Amino acid sequence: MEKILVLDFGGQYNQLIARKVREQQVYAEIKPYNTITPEEIKSAGYKGVIFTGGPNSVYDETSPHFDPAVLDIGVPILGICYGAQLMAYMAGGEITAAENSSEYGKTTVAVSEDILFKGVPAESICWMSHTDFIKTPPAGFRVTARSAKCPCAAMCDETRRLYAVQFHPEVTHSVYGVQMLRNFLFEICGCAGDWRIDDFLERSISKYHSELAGKKVLLALSGGVDSSVAAVLLHKAIGQNLVCVFVDHGLLRKNEGDFVERTFREKFGMNLIRVNAGDRFLAKLAGVTEPERKRKIIGEEFIRVFEDEAKKLGKINVLAQGTIYPDVVESGRGDSAVIKSHHNVGGLPDVISFDEIVEPLRELFKDEVRQTGERLGIPHELVWRQPFPGPGLAVRITGEITREKLDILREADAIFREEVANAGAESMTDQYFAVLTDQFSVGVMGDARTYGRTVVLRAVTTDDFMTAEWTRLPYELIEKASNRITNEIKGVTRVVYDVTSKPPATIEWE
Ligand code: XMP
Repeated sequence: MEKILVLDFGGQYNQLIARKVREQQVYAEIKPYNTITPEEIKSAGYKGVIFTGGPNSVYDETSPHFDPAVLDIGVPILGICYGAQLMAYMAGGEITAAENSSEYGKTTVAVSEDILFKGVPAESICWMSHTDFIKTPPAGFRVTARSAKCPCAAMCDETRRLYAVQFHPEVTHSVYGVQMLRNFLFEICGCAGDWRIDDFLERSISKYHSELAGKKVLLALSGGVDSSVAAVLLHKAIGQNLVCVFVDHGLLRKNEGDFVERTFREKFGMNLIRVNAGDRFLAKLAGVTEPERKRKIIGEEFIRVFEDEAKKLGKINVLAQGTIYPDVVESGRGDSAVIKSHHNVGGLPDVISFDEIVEPLRELFKDEVRQTGERLGIPHELVWRQPFPGPGLAVRITGEITREKLDILREADAIFREEVANAGAESMTDQYFAVLTDQFSVGVMGDARTYGRTVVLRAVTTDDFMTAEWTRLPYELIEKASNRITNEIKGVTRVVYDVTSKPPATIEWE
């Protein structure tokens, strides 16, 4: 299978580069720069290498460097931003950080005749984000693009098929960025562009069919996209030897547990064990109000319940997990500050032993997981469902978690989602839900005074969930949802709309 290596020097757009390459039907994988040698790159048969950007300066001793032998192994290379400077540095060029030389944002770049710029106009907008730049290209290279502040915005050595761009072609603001990436893949590396998700699916099913033959495989199904797709894929490969344990912690949305059970047991005929552990979780959560504590308790209890079920099943050979590519890439990095301890259903139990772990989706990005899910016939509403946190509604209830509060929240959330759907506003927002607070306030119903809880409606717009803006949902929709929530749910007197972005707030409340 033809593939491209994205050699990771710590840039923020590395996953984006790999995705953009895969969108051209060329398989791309990301590897940290210090995990592979030029010899290994050559023998792995990569059709090309992309050096990513990175936050460093090449002359810093601590900056990531790479063995310059890579320039002579005969595999085409495209250096982007830091990757471009590194290529220049490795080949003997000069990098500098002149005063006022920083460029950030949309920048006009003028290109000259070069195969990398085939089909690109003489001037176009590219996305720049740099302080250093290449002052003198190395011997054997010629300058192929310039901007007002950057005398060498691109360079190449056609003989060795080495190309470098100071800007970021992978970012949508670079208007002809895709064209440039295509030129690199198809004109320079000679890729055929024949990678298809269907091939991945067929290959995986037949691989697991033989590798897992006769083995018992256990999977923690959450009803989320990743574990669902992993489950159906493995079910296709090994049938009833796959046992799915669905731990219903009682913190799911309205009717969600039944939907998951129906889908996997009835539609797919899977070997599914549903554990209704709501009471167990509620007992553990009684009296607990501190958000991190709640998260920890739920995460730990989840593992305990899962272990209890697994033990009943006797010897299990393999544990399957719905890990996807961004998890793999991100877990290869140092931890950033813990804002919230994220619990992902399917965490590793420590009491049961397995001979093996399989992660059938570890090569795929989220959108590719969704495509795979569609191909496997998983219902659209499940494949495209908005993210739902592992600890469920517990992170949407302030203060203690009680059955009564869960019931109120489930109804409020269902009404809100229904009204978003009625207004056809699902595509306006990336995640939307209700939150139940402990704030009581005075209301009036008929002639009587009431004193009830406050429900918060939250909707956010985001690409990556790391930052988010509150969504400007239509007032009429919010009004309808508010009216219905106060009218239909006993104990709620007030509905408010959350107009905080992330940062400073997080998306979930707890
Ligand atoms: P925050 O609240 O951190 O949420 O801004 C960012 C995104 O992550 C989801 N989220 C979780 N997902 N386990 C998950 O699998 C968790 O513990 C968890 N906490 C938050 C949240 O719904 C949002 O999409």
